[in-house]
Amino acid sequence: MSKVTVKTIQKMKDADEKFSVLTAYDYSTAKYIDEAGVDIILIGDSLAMVALGYNTTHSIGVEEMRIFTKAVAKGVEHAMVVTDMPFMSYHANISDAILNCGEMIRCGANAVKIEGYSDYIVELIKRLTESGVPVMGHLGFTPQFLNTLGGYKIQGKTKDASDEILNQAKRLEKAGVFSIVLEMVPQDSAKYITENLSVPTISCGAGRYCSAQVLVSDDVFGKYSEFKPKFARKYGDMKSLIFSCAKKFNDDVKSGNFPSDDEVF
Ligand code: KIV
Repeated sequence: MSKVTVKTIQKMKDADEKFSVLTAYDYSTAKYIDEAGVDIILIGDSLAMVALGYNTTHSIGVEEMRIFTKAVAKGVEHAMVVTDMPFMSYHANISDAILNCGEMIRCGANAVKIEGYSDYIVELIKRLTESGVPVMGHLGFTPQFLNTLGGYKIQGKTKDASDEILNQAKRLEKAGVFSIVLEMVPQDSAKYITENLSVPTISCGAGRYCSAQVLVSDDVFGKYSEFKPKFARKYGDMKSLIFSCAKKFNDDVKSGNFPSDDEVF
């Protein structure tokens, strides 16, 4: 299988072929997700919540994203690796933002994801793409804006609101993004936005008409149990698997059943 690049992604959009995106935060999980044929692996800042136990995505910075990006990139051969730029790592000024984003490429990412659509973000996207850093945009519900949006709220519910997201998306497209995540947008609005863009859209709770679907892998594996978004699908029960393996090990150690003769030197 050849490496997925920005060109592969655009070709899939043009051919009306869906592509898949899953998050990963460590080497072995990234390796299996890659072997399963998933097209893009995202080191999402969701890792703050699902891997590090924080309440929001605000609590992590560039240093953590560097470590997790290196681990994931080592496990991946085929998929495109995208790193989510953490809260406040790209807002202070363009120079620092470019250096922080470039650092993720140095750690093995093939692209970065940034949230928002302001004039500053548009300028940053232009400068990053000119510098050889592909950018994935993120519109609709943007978790780093949780405090200004006033909670986990569906975005783009009215015709005016979906026109507004389309305008934002067109600004990002013009600036050079290779794809745009639409998070928590009603399916019909996401369809309208997708049909009016040349770059692919990636649904995160934005329905079936986007060019791609993204989910947090811990939701897909049934590992993170604090909260399951309405739009996520649980394909396994890793929580029970981990619990039962750990319990059996604990019981075996305490009963003397582990190690056996085959497990000693
Ligand atoms: O942080 C994340 O995992 C994300 C995706 C779910 C889009 O931003």
